[in-house]
Amino acid sequence: MKVLSVVGARPQLVKLAPIAAAFAGTPHDHVIVHTGQHYDADLSDVFFSGLNIPDPDVHLGVGSGSHGVQTGAVLAAMDKVLEQERPDWVLVYGDTNSTLAGALSAVKLHYRVAHLEAGLRSFNRRMPEEHNRVMTDHAADLLLAPTEEAMRHLASEGLASRSVLVGDVMVDVCLRIRDAVLAGEHPLPELPEGIDPEAPYLVSTLHRAENTDDPERLAGLLDSLAELPVPVALLAHPRLNARAESYGLKLSRGNLHVGRPLPYAGLVAAVLRSAGVVTDSGGLQKEAFLLGRACTTLRPETEWVETLEDRWNQLVPDPRSLDRDAWTETATRPAPDSERGEPYGDGQAARRVVQVLADQN
Ligand code: UD1
Repeated sequence: MKVLSVVGARPQLVKLAPIAAAFAGTPHDHVIVHTGQHYDADLSDVFFSGLNIPDPDVHLGVGSGSHGVQTGAVLAAMDKVLEQERPDWVLVYGDTNSTLAGALSAVKLHYRVAHLEAGLRSFNRRMPEEHNRVMTDHAADLLLAPTEEAMRHLASEGLASRSVLVGDVMVDVCLRIRDAVLAGEHPLPELPEGIDPEAPYLVSTLHRAENTDDPERLAGLLDSLAELPVPVALLAHPRLNARAESYGLKLSRGNLHVGRPLPYAGLVAAVLRSAGVVTDSGGLQKEAFLLGRACTTLRPETEWVETLEDRWNQLVPDPRSLDRDAWTETATRPAPDSERGEPYGDGQAARRVVQVLADQN
């Protein structure tokens, strides 16, 4: 069997790591196509080297652009790749523009598509990720769902017969790296200037278009983080830097300390050492949950609803609508002491993905 993985953005590289490892040592052929959606070393190269992912076989080099330009560039470039490689399966990951373009290019040329992380829904039609995941699910032949909740969404959209619950591959990678960090294999990375690793701090990221692309909203979020009584380490995505610069907003202010994005093991080490997480990232919400830290999510909804149990994760659509005490209590609350169970699976999802692809080949 030949499987062609299409990846392009940072969270897809994290998910690719356990899949590539699961293919290694099998007789199957696994081809990696990097679209080039993310090209900064901090968002791409360090994930290949840090997570021992083989170098991409093909690099499309599409780079940044508007949704249409970026999606279209991947679509146009994929025809030649698919005709050369002739895979049995095209495997697409998550909900980025690279996901949708990879799925669409394969469907058009009659290659079978499997969607990893199928069935997630925010029901927010303003989010580019929601368009991408809904359209990818309906185009794909095989839907590899991470959770029971995702399976329910797929069933309610008439897609049950194509859906298989495999668990979440992010558990595979997160727990493996957590264990390596706890075993002392990955030292705590350099944190932003002003953060004392020996004292309590919060880890924060902000990159969703709905938070970064409105200057007033972004300024309000930055001020809210800056006024917290605990120092906040903001690991700034290039999108955040680019938008802040174009609005003339300075990211560092008050108790908000800005640094670069971290490699995966560095992030896990930083979260494990932290007092909690404040983010709009889907992946980081789950990593906080898996690593046992309270998370505050700066969005009106989450696709990972299981994290909301017992307040492991709390949604704050707009911190400015809370009074200062309520905002501080929320963002700095300690982790609950409740059991979390295994809503995202047992850390063997990638092995199951390879098996399901082979069985249905
Ligand atoms: C993309 C995904 C988002 C995912 C995120 C993870 C879409 C629609 N969005 O968002 O779902 O959560 O990746 O990080 O696919 N830029 C750089 N260097 C890079 C990449 C981006 O400077 O290597 C800057 C550019 O200014 C670019 C902007 O970030 O215009 C946005 O990049 P883009 O790939 O369009 O989306 P992300 O915000 O990264």
